[in-house]
Amino acid sequence: MPLTLRPLPGGLGAEIDYDLSQPQDGPPIPELDDALAHHRLLVFPQQHLNHADLLTVSAHFGTVDTDIDRRYAVAGFPGITTVSNIVEDGAHIGIYDGDDEEEWHADNSFKPELTRATLLYSVITPEQGGQTRFADTTRAYAELPADLKKRIEGLRAIHSIHQLGTLQAQASGGTSSAAAGSLADQPETEHPLVLTHPVTGVRSLLLGPMVIRQIVGMPAKESNSLLAQLTKHATSPSYLYSHRWHQGDLVVWDNLATLHTASPCDSSRHHRLLYRTSVR
Ligand code: SIN
Repeated sequence: MPLTLRPLPGGLGAEIDYDLSQPQDGPPIPELDDALAHHRLLVFPQQHLNHADLLTVSAHFGTVDTDIDRRYAVAGFPGITTVSNIVEDGAHIGIYDGDDEEEWHADNSFKPELTRATLLYSVITPEQGGQTRFADTTRAYAELPADLKKRIEGLRAIHSIHQLGTLQAQASGGTSSAAAGSLADQPETEHPLVLTHPVTGVRSLLLGPMVIRQIVGMPAKESNSLLAQLTKHATSPSYLYSHRWHQGDLVVWDNLATLHTASPCDSSRHHRLLYRTSVR
């Protein structure tokens, strides 16, 4: 099936008309992979995907990561996480905090093997709020001043899920292990601050104030200030795309070339339900 692809305004992402629910056994569809590498974010509107379909589509982009927070894992479909503000029997069914803006992050950067792409499929969309905003870290890197590029060349950063837990616990008064769930045992890991994309060879920034504890070998104050400067640059308006969800949207993003954050919505009035997979 030929791809009809419309680049989104602003330079990050493209919308694709493609029925992903059709049986797609066999090898990955190279055009979709190329489109993801090139546009960094793909929006597939008006899909009708059940959980099995979502896993099939995910497998076209890589190996589905089944090491997810067990509290929000969809039973019987390894690797699917529920993302929702819905509360049932007094408990959140999913992993979205509707009350506060998330911090910018790349999914799972606290793991030693980076996530190549994330897929997020929308089932219930709030009438207000709950958008997902994306930052193009490839263009952000390309447009850094030359002296800053030189300064960060070869630097590595320590990513830690404990940092995420601690910050969330400070904000909510809970405990850090409660915030991280069954992933809380992950040891700290290091990643380069500047990634070289395995498919395109293009460079991008890997940032994430929730998860990056410190730049290796740099005093904490200097590290915090440099990370804040880079994050401010990478998330400035000219690099952003904000996705307002419609029911049936599947958005796939290149997790090595973007950061993202979920906007809050009023959970007392609006429900939000999506299903997420990540692929390596
Ligand atoms: C995520 O951070 O992976 C989920 C984003 C969202 O809920 O919009």
